[in-house]
Amino acid sequence: MLGLGTLRRVAGELRRDVRAAHERDPAAKTVSSIEVLANWPGVHALLSHRVAHTLEAAGIPLAPRALAYVSRSLTGIEIHPAARIGDGLFIDHGMGVVIGETAEVGENVTMYQGVTLGGTGFATGKRHPTVEDNVTIGSGAKLLGPITIGHGAKIGANAVVIHDVPPNSTVVGNPGHPVRVDGRRPEGPDADWVHLPDPIADALKQLSRRIGELERELAAARGEERDAEAEVVPLRPVRGPNPAGG
Ligand SMILES: CC(C)(COP(=O)(O)OP(=O)(O)OC[C@H]1O[C@@H](n2cnc3c(N)ncnc32)[C@H](O)[C@@H]1OP(=O)(O)O)[C@@H](O)C(=O)NCCC(=O)NCCS
Repeated sequence: MLGLGTLRRVAGELRRDVRAAHERDPAAKTVSSIEVLANWPGVHALLSHRVAHTLEAAGIPLAPRALAYVSRSLTGIEIHPAARIGDGLFIDHGMGVVIGETAEVGENVTMYQGVTLGGTGFATGKRHPTVEDNVTIGSGAKLLGPITIGHGAKIGANAVVIHDVPPNSTVVGNPGHPVRVDGRRPEGPDADWVHLPDPIADALKQLSRRIGELERELAAARGEERDAEAEVVPLRPVRGPNPAGG
């Protein structure tokens, strides 16, 4: 239940939120903690979320959502009371940030305005991203579905990410694709996390080739003209640059 211990925990989390603003916002470097506490919308949204989340966990009805609603009206940041947020999250500028019900955010994550941690449709259950520690998410990035963003990853501004992101990588674009992994350009087929092998299309291609050979031999034996060979095309056309860097 709610008590002194809970208050002490929320106060500790708030202290870390203010420290995160000091550490990661160049504009906050020369500003006092009181000023950050009074004027940084990301800090307000987190404070409100910490309280709403605690009330939600205690099974108190209505109040958590009402608090989230008021906080969204004031800061432009919408965090579902059930979302699990780790310590040291810093939301810079804030406006237009949406963090869904089953999203999980690790420690020391940084996100800018317009970031969405959302679902992809009407699925129920775990349907929002899990963001591991020390991830940075650029302004306007959309992270959709129950994907995992590996620790230390950077998501570029306006990226649309619908697949898991490897740790310590940089992902940009729509669809989001890795342009750096451990500081190096991904190279070779094994480093391509987006264009995964398609065994069904490969099997169909093999079948098509063998049927083509049989038809050719049959047509030659009968002395007939042969129809054009069937073509197997990928089931899902993939757009965007090749993340393997080739
Ligand atoms: C993705 C990001 C973190 C990469 O930073 P970085 O580690 O320094 O990487 P680089 O700048 O070397 O970029 C790596 C590659 O991705 C490309 N790239 C970088 N950001 C991109 C983006 N948002 N969209 C598309 N491509 C991008 C670069 O052109 C470069 O391509 P190349 O390898 O073909 O030259 C950074 O560009 C970014 O988008 N940060 C978000 C910042 C933000 O939202 N600020 C808001 C402040 S209000």
